[in-house]
Amino acid sequence: MEFLDAEFVQGFIRMADDGWNQGWHERNGGNLSYRVKPKEMESVKENFEAKEWQPIGTTVPKLAGEYFLVTGSGKYFRNVIIKPEDSICMVELDDKGENYRIVWGLVNGGKPTSELPSHLMNHEVKKELTAGRYRVIYHAHTTNVIALTFVLPLTDEAFTRELWEMATECPVVFPGGIGVVPWMVPGGRDIAVETSKLMKDYDVAVWAHHGMFAAGEDFDLTFGLMHTVEKSAEILVKMLSMQSCKRQTIMPDDFRNLARDFKVTLPEKFLYEKSNTAK
Ligand code: 13P
Ligand code: ZN
Repeated sequence: MEFLDAEFVQGFIRMADDGWNQGWHERNGGNLSYRVKPKEMESVKENFEAKEWQPIGTTVPKLAGEYFLVTGSGKYFRNVIIKPEDSICMVELDDKGENYRIVWGLVNGGKPTSELPSHLMNHEVKKELTAGRYRVIYHAHTTNVIALTFVLPLTDEAFTRELWEMATECPVVFPGGIGVVPWMVPGGRDIAVETSKLMKDYDVAVWAHHGMFAAGEDFDLTFGLMHTVEKSAEILVKMLSMQSCKRQTIMPDDFRNLARDFKVTLPEKFLYEKSNTAK
């Protein structure tokens, strides 16, 4: 099969374009990765042309031998739909999970996203915790979440609770809550380690003054998660722009009732009493 005809490749391209259309990917901002199923790899491997091995910059032994579809470093989400072979690539990991090699794409040169360590360490955590169900890691520069990292305390509790309060669907879509990484230098192993620690508890990690990482089973769920969190952040930004205090909101017992009816578990650490419930 032609590489670009494969359904997983088409799904990847569509998601990149959807992110671009949301305004989350100025210039080369953001990156996307998909852990390819063995069957999918087999269906396109006639197109492979392996390049030389390169160090990943971290070690992901539980992903040894796996294949990933990833956006290229410095490549624009805006261009993925018109020139995918220049903007994205498929990489293979070696048998130790220490090196990768490009087997398709980036035809005009380049390398996978500079956030490859974060993507792969997050994939490793999620593969283990979900018995292999999770396959997508998505990093986007979501405007409203970034804005909130200048005004909310940089804690998992504050971000989860404030975003839950902004839309009733939020505690149902991300019942586990969301984590926050303080500002760090992006693109390396240190931020990857901190982010992957949060991925043990959450499907979303906020990077202060930078953006978000989301993890999920497939393109729809992962894009939908990013979209839901960012929309909630947009509502909070709008609310705070009108007045700094809420006149009314969803209260801790309301969340408990919602959790019961929607059969989700909402950790009590997010349902703390606020000194002023209007805040
Ligand atoms: P890349 O172009 O290397 O993917 O980097 C973009 C980005 O968002 C870094 O955090
Ligand atoms: Zn970024």
